[in-house]
Amino acid sequence: MSTSKLTNTILNEDCVTGLVKLDDNSIDLVVTSPPYDGLRDYKGFTFEFPRIIKQLYRVVKEGGVVVWVVADATVKGTETGTSFRQALGFMEEGFNLHDTMIFRKANPIPQIYRKRYNNEFEYMFVFSKGTVAKHNAIMVPCLHAGLELGTTTYKNYSKGEQTRKKLANPVKAEKVKGNIWEYVVGKKKEDQEAKEHPAPFPAQLARDHILSWSNEGDIVLDPMCGSGTTLRVAKELDRNYIGIDISEEYCKIAERRVANADNASNLDTHQKSLI
Ligand SMILES: C[S@@+](CC[C@H](N)C(=O)[O-])C[C@H]1O[C@@H](n2cnc3c(N)ncnc32)[C@H](O)[C@@H]1O
Repeated sequence: MSTSKLTNTILNEDCVTGLVKLDDNSIDLVVTSPPYDGLRDYKGFTFEFPRIIKQLYRVVKEGGVVVWVVADATVKGTETGTSFRQALGFMEEGFNLHDTMIFRKANPIPQIYRKRYNNEFEYMFVFSKGTVAKHNAIMVPCLHAGLELGTTTYKNYSKGEQTRKKLANPVKAEKVKGNIWEYVVGKKKEDQEAKEHPAPFPAQLARDHILSWSNEGDIVLDPMCGSGTTLRVAKELDRNYIGIDISEEYCKIAERRVANADNASNLDTHQKSLI
């Protein structure tokens, strides 16, 4: 087997078994969410984290990116710290921790009050193999677009008092988006397609990362693809995909979603302009 033979397929097997079939340096982007801390019953699985990152480092191209969406369970009063341990594991394997991003849930599941605030986010660790090769930055409107800024004095605690001169140009219309991304979970039509899976991430999350870190024709891998959100969106954005999941039931959902996905169907004008 090789990456080219497995392109645009979904493998129903353990991810390490699937990953070893892929060629070295053949994957442009990985967008995935591992099963974490036994939070949910995914129909029985084993999860060999050290072998998975070793394989990911081997198959990802130089300059390629892995987006790892993860959170911690709270066990016996403490968060497990699994997310941080995994991030350090990626770094020990040789990946750069390019950006620690946050997936903020607009509609978090209400929790029983246990002297802590309601959990409403997951990490989106962005790892890169060497320097990131592709970044199609998502832009957002500047709050003060067009405003002419005058001279101002402010305190910089390492340098003392600083003066900023009047800006020659008014504030720009757009700036690069920040690294906290907010999504409604499970309500949109495209996410309802995945409702038989216990923990799909929003299609828009996959879309934003795939647009950001890959180009048309690239190969996007999800080695724990669940309901196939990454694969469905990769197809929609004219990328190639490879999916792996240990559960036959979830692979069937993923196959169905990919088969029904249209190319470039759900994009807004701004996103269309990026591809
Ligand atoms: C958090 S879910 C991924 C959900 C996916 N992002 C989506 O949008 O549907 C994690 C997935 O990992 C799969 N899984 C668990 N252990 C695995 C293994 N050893 N190899 C491959 N897949 C595995 C589970 O079946 C589950 O579907």
